[in-house]
Amino acid sequence: QKLQLSLEQIEKGGYEHFMLKEIHEQPKAIIDTYRGRMLADQGIIKMAGVDDHLEKFLNADRIIIVACGTSWHAGLVAEYLFEDIARIPVEVEYASEFRYRNPIITDKDIVIAISQSGETADTLAAIKLAKSKGAFVFGVCNVVGSSIARETHAGAYTHAGPEIGVASTKAFTTQITVLSLIALKLGKAKGKISNSLFHSHLQTLQLIPKKIEELLAIDDQVKHIASVYKNATNCLYLGRGFNFPVALEGALKLKEISYIHAEGYPAAEMKHGPIALIDENMPIIVIATSKGHYEKVVSNIQEIKSRSGKIIAIVTQGDTTVKEIADHTIEIPETEEAFTPLLTTIPLQLLSYHIAVFLGRNVDQPRNLAKSVTVE
Ligand code: G6P
Repeated sequence: QKLQLSLEQIEKGGYEHFMLKEIHEQPKAIIDTYRGRMLADQGIIKMAGVDDHLEKFLNADRIIIVACGTSWHAGLVAEYLFEDIARIPVEVEYASEFRYRNPIITDKDIVIAISQSGETADTLAAIKLAKSKGAFVFGVCNVVGSSIARETHAGAYTHAGPEIGVASTKAFTTQITVLSLIALKLGKAKGKISNSLFHSHLQTLQLIPKKIEELLAIDDQVKHIASVYKNATNCLYLGRGFNFPVALEGALKLKEISYIHAEGYPAAEMKHGPIALIDENMPIIVIATSKGHYEKVVSNIQEIKSRSGKIIAIVTQGDTTVKEIADHTIEIPETEEAFTPLLTTIPLQLLSYHIAVFLGRNVDQPRNLAKSVTVE
């Protein structure tokens, strides 16, 4: 027993929980993800799984992404990335719905299955179905040699290293990194983005780990915000565009480990329902980074304010407008809009972590949840 405990402590590398360790590992995990693949200085992205099947990717009518949980959220980010950068139509499906829907799939479709564990039963079943209908299936997994990695025609590992905390953190950001590389590679190969934009995107991606490192220094500020809202019973997360999936992911993280009810919404949908919930007891986390619908999100923030909701805003460094209205602002370093999810996610992970710790929850093994769901 004693030996086991100390082994676990060693594994946690000085952090109180695996989740916190894994949050802090993200800069390194992302570098591991693009090491040997993204050669920013030469302007090259090498990914064997894509290169070996490039024709298939270039001729695909559409990409269907299947996944569950946090991986599904990474899939939603990928929808924005693929459509914006590579101009390929994308559908993102819950694997559990897709597999039972008699979906329309042809041999001109590419199915991308995203899974940290590579063992999720619904995702595995969705892959088998897609294969039986002739689709080319590409896996984005973290666990090497996992069932999904073996069942797919090709794939790209995330190389995030083992993720122990049930709430997924570094798996999510490394999935987005892999999917960004694929989108950029296809965008270039299809001639959908200019060479100069391609190059500048690579340079921007290369700077992300350093920016996450910088961002992790806000931990104390986030901890303070967590102490203010730890007793909330409901939270709303809002984001738009690339950051709409981040709002969903932020809400999921809070639900999973603090057991506080939380909803993620596209900011503009607030008026179609959630606005009715807003009062002085309702914390609302709004992603309001400077690029992408900023003014529109600011007007959402004003609407929240006029209903006395408590606003925690994720803004770009140097923001002044939102700062004047919000109750709290968390600043993230500037980057291209397409890559903001890699940054905006970080404070949301920390926020749910600290709230869960304040509430005395079992952060790494929350009740009723499993790291890998191998049954339906
Ligand atoms: C479980 C885990 C989640 C994960 C989901 C999908 O619900 O608790 O953290 O996002 O499964 O898992 P996968 O391994 O397929 O990414």
